[in-house]
Amino acid sequence: MNEKPTALVTGASRPEGLGFAVARELAGRGHHVVLAGRHLDRTRAMAARLAAEGLSAAAVRLDVTAPEDVSACARFLRPAGRLDVLVNNAATMPDFATTSLLDADLAEARTSYDVNVLGAWALVQACLPLLRAAPAARIVNVSSAAATQIAAGPDWPHGVRSPGYALAKYALNALTASLAAELRGTGILVNAVDPGPVATHPERGDDAEDRSPAEAAFDVVRAATLPAGGPSGALLSAGAPGLRA
Ligand SMILES: NC(=O)c1ccc[n+]([C@@H]2O[C@H](COP(=O)([O-])OP(=O)(O)OC[C@H]3O[C@@H](n4cnc5c(N)ncnc54)[C@H](OP(=O)(O)O)[C@@H]3O)[C@@H](O)[C@H]2O)c1
Repeated sequence: MNEKPTALVTGASRPEGLGFAVARELAGRGHHVVLAGRHLDRTRAMAARLAAEGLSAAAVRLDVTAPEDVSACARFLRPAGRLDVLVNNAATMPDFATTSLLDADLAEARTSYDVNVLGAWALVQACLPLLRAAPAARIVNVSSAAATQIAAGPDWPHGVRSPGYALAKYALNALTASLAAELRGTGILVNAVDPGPVATHPERGDDAEDRSPAEAAFDVVRAATLPAGGPSGALLSAGAPGLRA
């Protein structure tokens, strides 16, 4: 059994990504952080970076759409005896350039749903015994403002941008609320966080006003370390009262 609280962050294999920034912030606050990524070499390099800063970190290979990877990840975590924080950060937005539901590529939409929704759901299921073993586990599903296009329904004024991704994040918000309801009374809090626009893809050209990964990570970690009696089943947006001290 690890003395430190343990955290798992999915999609943490990119140095510029939000997942790595969340892992660093959690480790800085005293967690043993397990970084999960599809490419073990790259994910190990990220964990080694944290270790070089004197932080406690390990790496595990995880494609969230592969059931055998999800099971293996849960087995990897088992010696710690508990999982205090699960951050479902892994995501994909293959329909980045699509601007309407009417001509969306449904194969891309399916991929988005697999990673963003089923991936998060599978990890909650696989990690549930370890989450229950923690004194006050927190689950954070990283969502997106893209979902508001779907939430607006007939009031949305334009075609839906990145429709498969937007629908997946909308479903992730709904999954979050329903999981929170099913886990009510267990002490486990489940929330979604919309981090706002974050400068995580310099190669694609981030906007000057985008938040830094470290700033956005702060909001995710706030939701991952909520005190008992904090919100559950909520969508916490960047700067929302529930997130800011
Ligand atoms: N950046 C923004 O402006 C923004 C805005 C709103 C919400 N968000 C959300 O914030 C989170 C992080 O964003 P980001 O910009 O840092 O994203 P990102 O780096 O593009 O994606 C996150 C990670 O997901 C991983 N991933 C993709 N498919 C996977 C799979 N099947 N299994 C496991 N991992 C997989 C990627 O891994 P590989 O390295 O292997 O490709 C990547 O490292 C995401 O949930 C995103 O939707 C971001």
